[in-house]
Amino acid sequence: MQTLAGKKILLGISGGIAAYKCAELTRRLIERGAQVQVVMTHAAKEFITPLTMQAVSGRPVSDSLLDPAAEASMGHIELAKWADLVLLAPATADLIARMSAGMGNDLLTTLVLATDAPIAVSPAMNQQMYLNIATQENIATLARRGMSIWGPAAGEQACGDVGPGRMLEPMQLVSHCEAFFADKPLEGKSVVITAGPTREAIDPVRYISNHSSGKMGFALAEAAQKLGAQVTLIAGPVSLTTPQGVERINVDSAQNMHAKAMEQAAKHNVFIGCAAVADYRPEVIAEQKIKKTDDSDQMSITMVKNPDIIASVASMKEARPFTVGFAAETQDVEHYARTKLAKKNLDMICANDVSVEGQGFNSNDNAITVYWKEGKQSLTLASKQQIAQQIMASIAEKLEA
Ligand code: PMT
Repeated sequence: MQTLAGKKILLGISGGIAAYKCAELTRRLIERGAQVQVVMTHAAKEFITPLTMQAVSGRPVSDSLLDPAAEASMGHIELAKWADLVLLAPATADLIARMSAGMGNDLLTTLVLATDAPIAVSPAMNQQMYLNIATQENIATLARRGMSIWGPAAGEQACGDVGPGRMLEPMQLVSHCEAFFADKPLEGKSVVITAGPTREAIDPVRYISNHSSGKMGFALAEAAQKLGAQVTLIAGPVSLTTPQGVERINVDSAQNMHAKAMEQAAKHNVFIGCAAVADYRPEVIAEQKIKKTDDSDQMSITMVKNPDIIASVASMKEARPFTVGFAAETQDVEHYARTKLAKKNLDMICANDVSVEGQGFNSNDNAITVYWKEGKQSLTLASKQQIAQQIMASIAEKLEA
């Protein structure tokens, strides 16, 4: 799909090993309809040749501020005005430092100063260089000036180190570009999302929980943010990275999640309950670790009902947000989902059949049917990111209607 049709992307490449990925990145951007003009620093040419970049972009590469021939065709000011987006990938520690200092000592930094186009920076460097306080402060300065910071990823590095500093993969950068240019139907709206499991303590070392990984809720947060919403994520105990630009509140038990949800709900336009909240909790939490006894092979725990978070939100009398629930079912999906929709007074419910392998709890994919009073929409098996985008688009439509 031509998701970037007609978009003019100025790709600034600086001298890091990740520069070799720029040929692939350029191809994928062009494939989606973008026009890509490559600008390289002197050092970048040591990692990938201008000839390669010219071949994949279909345009001569710009690399010199003081080249009369280049200035005669598309001068640096013209180039700066041409771009709809300036993407700096890879952005080395040196390039980031020069930008932070406001220098214009080569073509790329001059363009950065001269452009009024939005600028996205994709840092790529050794993990120690990335973590260095100077680099961190420089990146924070660029972010403060309104530049988008895309990445870095963490993992094994070309130098053998392991840690943060890997440039995002070409397709991740393409997704960022697509999201950047996408319509923002949730601009001016705010969304609060619960995600992950809750933990209901039995004693200081044991708890009752479930298999929710938080992936579905985090994907929703990312999708909502990309559609322009201001997003707050109330997350149970999960080991996931917070999506960029999303505010995160960590909780553990259902009661704790309930308190935070009630604090946040009236401040937002939309509330999405994606968390797998424990319906019951132990009535008493033992103060000390419960000991195994010799006189019985059984033990019982008395459980009491937890507050129903989404039902509490949906019954708010003032500033009630548009309320979207989830239904995790193993049978009679439509019947149970519609019953929850009505009983909990929801505006929409996203039902997943969690008995099917490869979807639902702790998987990367999901299949959902969205129900509302007058209709339904089936979202066939796809990555949780894709499903989340479709759910958020559907919510945006309903808010507009
Ligand atoms: O986290 P993942 O591994 O990515 O898995 C995703 C998921 C399967 C957890 C998610 O897609 C999902 O279905 N979430 C809802 C799980 C659930 O608890 O469903 P339920 O049918 O038991 O609850 C119905 C709704 O009531 C849900 O919106 C739930 O958040 C809410 N609820 C339930 C109990 C309670 N005490 N308070 C609530 O707000």
